[in-house]
Amino acid sequence: MRDDLAIQLGPLRLRNPLVMASGTFGFGLDYRGLVEPDQVGAVVTKGLSLQPWVGHAPPRLVESPCGAINAIGLENPGVDLFVERLLPELVATGATVIANVVGKTQEEYAEVARRLEAAGGVAAVELNISCPNVKEGGVAFAASPVMAASVVRAVRAASRLPVFVKLAPMAADPVEVALACAAAGADGFTVANTYPALSIDVERGQPALTAEVGGLSGPAIRPLSVRLTARIWRATGLPIIGSGGVETARDALEYLMAGARAVAVGTATFYRPTAALEILEGLRDYVARQGLASLETLVGRAVGPPEETAADIEGQAAAYLERTGALLHGHFRLSSGLHSDRYVEKFRLLERPRVAEALVRLLAIACWDLRPEVVVGPATGGILLAYELARQLGVSRAFFTERVGGRMALRRGFSVAAGEAVLLVEDVITTGGSLMETAQAVQAAGGRIVGACSLIDRSGGRFRPPFPYRTLIRLDFETWDQAACPLCWQGVPIAEPGSRRIG
Ligand SMILES: Cc1cc2nc3c(=O)[nH]c(=O)nc-3n(C[C@H](O)[C@H](O)[C@H](O)COP(=O)(O)O)c2cc1C
Repeated sequence: MRDDLAIQLGPLRLRNPLVMASGTFGFGLDYRGLVEPDQVGAVVTKGLSLQPWVGHAPPRLVESPCGAINAIGLENPGVDLFVERLLPELVATGATVIANVVGKTQEEYAEVARRLEAAGGVAAVELNISCPNVKEGGVAFAASPVMAASVVRAVRAASRLPVFVKLAPMAADPVEVALACAAAGADGFTVANTYPALSIDVERGQPALTAEVGGLSGPAIRPLSVRLTARIWRATGLPIIGSGGVETARDALEYLMAGARAVAVGTATFYRPTAALEILEGLRDYVARQGLASLETLVGRAVGPPEETAADIEGQAAAYLERTGALLHGHFRLSSGLHSDRYVEKFRLLERPRVAEALVRLLAIACWDLRPEVVVGPATGGILLAYELARQLGVSRAFFTERVGGRMALRRGFSVAAGEAVLLVEDVITTGGSLMETAQAVQAAGGRIVGACSLIDRSGGRFRPPFPYRTLIRLDFETWDQAACPLCWQGVPIAEPGSRRIG
């Protein structure tokens, strides 16, 4: 096997960038004699669920100009039967196997991944959180950054297999979903699944498909998914499998130049079963004609490099500190009374709704497992953060504490039911005093603290509350008592930012 088209896809080394798209190549064995599973870079299996799924009644596939609309309903034999009967034969062919996973809950996704890893022979999982024609699970997960990230995190916790997330092109903002998944530990993405579509049989006066809505695939969607590939590449820099309407080498090259490192062939296989092999030949020709040492040099060529690497939460959050000018240098008296040479003006972050939203998304990802019923923050940053965090976590109530006689207290009729699960959120932790007073006020009212989080922790590791605590950024600035402050000794004028004295 020639190695001229070999490419790195995150942790996977593929013999070439051609991947057989999920659902269009069965379990890799149906096309033997036409396309051998080890001739392509990887075989992506049909979506696998924990239990067998029956799928929708026919008709399930209808032609459409420049494409097809399908609503198979993720029919599959379930992960156990796959592992027992199909996987050994597929692995024996020498194929690189990427298992596509579906589920109705994040626990199901995690369990399927766990069983696949235990079976051995699977190189990675592709999480289908984006199927447009199933009612439960499926696209619902890809619609919300927090939900999508929670699936990734659950799968990550259950298995060590590399995780590729198949994005839904019609999510309100697929880039936000991708960033959330990256922060939750995704290794890469498949961009993208099919587009929700409706075809009507005018003779019968009914939808052409039993399920009514199906997913549009084929050349009709290619420019849309190429654009999305470029957006996800620029925003995350993570490895991408481009998918949608690839029929020729030219199409595959478009995806590579938009930032993909591998390209899936789907619908084309239905009407030209050896399409993948023809595309590979075309790619070899191109590489030879252009005198390229490898395909690597093409990745993202047409759209430029990624804006930033989005894989780590702290890196993403710290980038906002820099960009907004929230980090000030000088001589400051902090609300705790301590002196410092640096001060974080959190309102440079919070005054921008888009920045606050993005930062809180990272908090939501860090706290999804705490499952709060109420979110509470100390005023004033806490008002904004608690509201936005509750909104993103899908929690129905958010409120704040404020100072009464110098101590944080619940006012304005805010109350918690006995045993209600409360998540606390703070903007900046210096000593953690306001947060702990808030915890006491909530507990005195009967609430149960399930955890706390902050945007920034500058306690130098000294804040260790007796409940789970997550922070986005740890800033280890020195602080001094007035008597020990070197800036006071030098006579540097002191500024007193913040609102404690005023409010
Ligand atoms: C009949 C059919 C079944 C599919 N089944 C799945 C599936 O089980 N899981 C999945 O993630 N994508 C599935 N897809 C989506 C494809 O993997 C692919 O992403 C999409 O069809 C776009 O590529 P294409 O235009 O080359 O077909 C299916 C597509 C078709 C046409």
